[in-house]
Amino acid sequence: MESTRNKLIQLLADNSEQYISGQLLSEELEISRSAIWKHMKELEKDGYQIEGKSNKGYRIISYPDKLSENTIRWGLDTDWIGKSIVHKESTTSTQHIAHDEARNGASHGTIIIADEQTNGKGRMNRSWFSSKGKGMWLSMILRPRISPQQAPQLTLLTATVLADVLHAYCHVTPLIKWPNDILLNNKKTAGILTEMQAEQDIINYIVIGIGLNVNQSESELPEEIRHKATSLFIETEKEHSIKGLIQEILVAFEKAYDQFIKNGFPDVKRKWESYGFKIGEEITIKTLRDHFQATFLGIEEDGALRIKRMDGSTEKLYSAEIDW
Ligand code: BTN
Repeated sequence: MESTRNKLIQLLADNSEQYISGQLLSEELEISRSAIWKHMKELEKDGYQIEGKSNKGYRIISYPDKLSENTIRWGLDTDWIGKSIVHKESTTSTQHIAHDEARNGASHGTIIIADEQTNGKGRMNRSWFSSKGKGMWLSMILRPRISPQQAPQLTLLTATVLADVLHAYCHVTPLIKWPNDILLNNKKTAGILTEMQAEQDIINYIVIGIGLNVNQSESELPEEIRHKATSLFIETEKEHSIKGLIQEILVAFEKAYDQFIKNGFPDVKRKWESYGFKIGEEITIKTLRDHFQATFLGIEEDGALRIKRMDGSTEKLYSAEIDW
């Protein structure tokens, strides 16, 4: 059940342009006016700036930058994504929670967000370093009516959304390393992990996990990844609002997703290739069985990697790692 505190914040948020009287709040929430006043004091302790005027009532002037269901929802202008938000201060992995929530029927567009992950998961069974309050550790639950074979296209779409937002919002120049690493100055600043529950031709649900390094200084990144990882703070010498980034990403994702469902993959492919790292260049490719040089030609209509071998033959690869 929604807590009184959440309902109070929602009422204030819905009336942000005007004052809402203590009387009205007490009627809506069915609690006394002195209880309302105590809640206001608690909200102030949490960093909300609330203005109270004797003949007018209360209004929220600003929200804290820290993450919570309410602060993320405040000002989030979306139709379906982030309508349900689960926030954890600390968890093993937002992917784990997302799978539990999805199995229990969570709706399309549900977001799981954590300040810290103690067992963050990367691709290929790698771990993902997710320190407290320094990055965006987010998973989203999607229930798309597409075939399971199309699911990788959603990962590529997510990468283009991240690149677009980082470019517009943080004024950096990102590149996407196939399939889904976001690079700044040739170092990884974000990664995407897509996991799917499907039967035959039907997707039950997809969980897309995004890890974005935001405010870590170089010394705050583990030594073993410092040569290949970076953060927005390192690249821009500025701190960035994680809450602001989440909101920008959700808005941009919803728009891109809706367009993809309507128009298919060609626009995503074009956008992806505009950010593609080393397209037209020679790369080293590692597959389960092989390790070879090839020219990276771009991505296929279905999202696969298109390469040209040294003997001139072209090939489609669905699962490979690129080295440089
Ligand atoms: C990669 O290997 O590049 C993918 C990294 C994905 C990390 C994110 S952080 C949020 C979500 N929860 C996890 O445990 N992993 C993903």
